[in-house]
Amino acid sequence: MPSVFIKTYGCQMNERDSEAVAAQLVAKGYSLARSESVADVVLLNTCSVRDLAEQKAINKMKNLIGTARGEKREQIVGFIGCMAQSRGKELIDRLPDVDLVLGTQKFHRAAEYLDDLLSGRTKKIVDVEAEAKSESTIREHLLNGSAKKSVSAFVSIMQGCNQYCTFCIVPYTRGEERSRTIPDIVAECRELVAGGVKEITLLGQIVTSYGKRDIPLLDGKSAFVQLLEAVHEIDGLERIRFTSPHPKGYGDDLVEAYARLPKLAESAHIPLQSGSDRLLKLMHRGYTRERFLGIIHKLREARPDIGITTDIIVGFPGETEEDFEQTLSLCREVEFDNAFIFKYSSRRDTPAAEMPDQVPQEIREERNHRLLETVNEIGKRKYDAFIGRQVQILVEGPSKKNAARYTGRTRCNRIVLFDGSARHQGQLMDVKVTRTGSFTLYGDPAIVNL
Ligand code: SAH
Ligand code: F3S
Repeated sequence: MPSVFIKTYGCQMNERDSEAVAAQLVAKGYSLARSESVADVVLLNTCSVRDLAEQKAINKMKNLIGTARGEKREQIVGFIGCMAQSRGKELIDRLPDVDLVLGTQKFHRAAEYLDDLLSGRTKKIVDVEAEAKSESTIREHLLNGSAKKSVSAFVSIMQGCNQYCTFCIVPYTRGEERSRTIPDIVAECRELVAGGVKEITLLGQIVTSYGKRDIPLLDGKSAFVQLLEAVHEIDGLERIRFTSPHPKGYGDDLVEAYARLPKLAESAHIPLQSGSDRLLKLMHRGYTRERFLGIIHKLREARPDIGITTDIIVGFPGETEEDFEQTLSLCREVEFDNAFIFKYSSRRDTPAAEMPDQVPQEIREERNHRLLETVNEIGKRKYDAFIGRQVQILVEGPSKKNAARYTGRTRCNRIVLFDGSARHQGQLMDVKVTRTGSFTLYGDPAIVNL
């Protein structure tokens, strides 16, 4: 049977989609290739959020095509996911050797289309149509097929986003918000837990909008909180996380869920984007600096140890030095455990691309650099404060960089490296933090776990 290699760009949603496509192909008899150079089929699961991510995937495709041609090898190559969705047939016009362009609502058709291409029945396939109910088609996981058994899994709860932040391409690449039902999601989580999973991350572009249209409030609790409660019931599940919420939908019912549901791990990724009210408005974010600070304050009251991370954009059109300083000051005030900083990247057909006062590239670079310095300095201080403390970790497996080391995560989602062995894999264990690296803790299990 043919072998397939999938390379993923972008976010956790893309990772999850790739895993589902791989599982679907394996179920149809395909094997997973060790590398792209020996695969019969190579799929690039793409990201469109910033221009750089698109350029990376396009260059990769050019390399693949060039190498296969040089070696006179037949290989089916395709773009799937967000860039496939937003650019469609244009990708084949630009790179005529590309065989398949498959959009974000069509992942479940991958096996069928590849069969057609491999058998020669069809020469090129472009399918980027919208498809009703496609949010429920991503279910397969590759748990037993892969060498290591996963302890941590991602479950997609919804697709799309209706917020239309003015900088963001996601509403166009992922479409309208569509949510799966609570019983459907819980059934998938139960299956994962039965297979050994101990930690589940619920995924969506804007999880705080989960089920908004279909599931009414219950005792003042949003559909998303009702879902958290249902997942929390699953015996054997130890930790629940989710990403990403939107500050606008971060109600008291969600803060209260942290106080009430012990399996809800004390970590929160809450995208900020900017600390300036003027910019938040131009970005169409729907909250103010004060509202954002209020959420953080309440969360820390509910769970003092909560790890909080965020996303920030620098150099959004019209951002002045004063606006930027508002972001800097908010970061100092909140003290994020980590922040992912992005230089604004103009996306085709988004309102921000047409806004006046686009910020020169050098200024985007300079603000990126200044903000990074602040974020790193605060992060280091917060990580150093862990030295000497005992923390519970869930051991994921050998570290990618050094196989003698094992890696796990604390409840507050910090990575911990320690000298472990296969017997630790999948275990919840206590370690004592001995030192820190860049956004990493080093732990010693010997002290508390013999
Ligand atoms: N709600 C989504 C956001 C997806 S995009 C989520 O689940 O995280 C991830 C991050 O990329 C955003 O939070 C934003 O900080 C950044 N981003 C999005 N569009 C961008 C653009 N045009 N330029 C720079 N950064 C961008
Ligand atoms: Fe993008 Fe804003 Fe939705 S960042 S994914 S439009 S919440």
